[in-house]
Amino acid sequence: MYALPITEKYAAEAAILGVYDTNVKRSELLSRKTGGKIPVFNDFHRMLAEVKPDAVIVTSVDRYHHEYIIAALEAGCDAISEKPMTIDAEKCRAILEAEKKSGKRVIVTFNARCSPFATKIKELMRAGTIGQVYSVHFEWFLDTVHGADYFRRWHRRLENSGGLLVHKATHHFDLVNWFIEKDPVSVYATGSRRFYGQPSEMSGPRCHTCRHKEACGYYIDITSDAYRSLYYDCEDVDGYYRDGCVFDPEIDICDTMTLHVQYEDQVSMAYSLTAHSPHEGYRLVINGEQGRLEAEAFAHKHNAAVTSREIKVLNRENEVATYRVPSLSGGHGGADDILMRLLMREQTADPHQYVAGSRAGAMSLIIGAAANASIASGQIVQVKDLLPPL
Ligand SMILES: NC(=O)c1ccc[n+]([C@@H]2O[C@H](COP(=O)([O-])OP(=O)(O)OC[C@H]3O[C@@H](n4cnc5c(N)ncnc54)[C@H](O)[C@@H]3O)[C@@H](O)[C@H]2O)c1
Repeated sequence: MYALPITEKYAAEAAILGVYDTNVKRSELLSRKTGGKIPVFNDFHRMLAEVKPDAVIVTSVDRYHHEYIIAALEAGCDAISEKPMTIDAEKCRAILEAEKKSGKRVIVTFNARCSPFATKIKELMRAGTIGQVYSVHFEWFLDTVHGADYFRRWHRRLENSGGLLVHKATHHFDLVNWFIEKDPVSVYATGSRRFYGQPSEMSGPRCHTCRHKEACGYYIDITSDAYRSLYYDCEDVDGYYRDGCVFDPEIDICDTMTLHVQYEDQVSMAYSLTAHSPHEGYRLVINGEQGRLEAEAFAHKHNAAVTSREIKVLNRENEVATYRVPSLSGGHGGADDILMRLLMREQTADPHQYVAGSRAGAMSLIIGAAANASIASGQIVQVKDLLPPL
């Protein structure tokens, strides 16, 4: 996402001055793949002191984002953080405080905003097509290829990722917050684990050594080109393996979740996230004073008939306008290129406000954090009890 574009396409605007990762083999791989000139550090603070960068790009495991963001701000750097900005309210408050004290800036890379499809929805909402917003209905489904992957890796522990309601849904909540331009007030959630992390006749220690590899539909080959250099070859450094069993009882995150989110101005959202669907994508409905926007973007890996990609706006005069938005080539439907251009070429105009700051980072992750608290307590959680007014 960052290293190759910066060293190739944006070499005139930016340079990577150093790389740090707790797994030094992965840092060395990044340096090698980008021409062998990027120095590898085994101490993050020493790296900051020596190379004095303008900005630090944070792409570590989510639970550590706040450590690097805060250290970067304290060293006088801007911080560009992968989503989610962090995984809980306490770490979020610490980031916001450090940003305020430092006078530097936190950027959160919500590349989902930059897709042409999401951009069209934003444009229709900005144009006031459905008038004042009353309610949102949002269903997101991950298929058993993409969805299962979160249950093999570090994401499968709540302490690492905040679960899918933070790690994944921060994108979804950010989209809604960006579309309707309202802040969340309270969250009630339920969640369960129905599909992964359950005892199965296919259970094993990990795919690589599993005796069910021929028969299991969730087997991945960690020695294949897709995973070998970044993961399998680096296992000896930290013992981390990326092909954990999706039926492992150590999994403690939910795979089936439903939320009621109350926003300001009496706007409400019903949201659900399913991580074991036969197809992948979302359905979004926004009801307003003057009509209703319906958006569908989903696909089935093996059945082209189960595909939809259109936005409809229905008004009170019984008219329906339909929009079909082609995606672009490149990572995440062309979104990654658009975001990189904005981050690296600061003079690039950003009329849609694709570049998000700490406020958007906080407002999206806090819905997930509040949902986690609600699932644990069975109570409605007020956002103001987790975050001061921003
Ligand atoms: N916006 C997107 O579309 C998108 C897509 C994928 C991942 N991400 C984000 O990128 C980040 C990385 O995800 P990934 O899928 O590349 O995971 P990954 O497991 O491939 O990489 C995580 C890296 O963090 C390193 N690490 C672990 N603990 C660390 C620590 N304490 N300090 C420093 N480094 C540490 C690991 O060694 C590893 O190299 C996550 O925050 C994730 O949410 C965003």
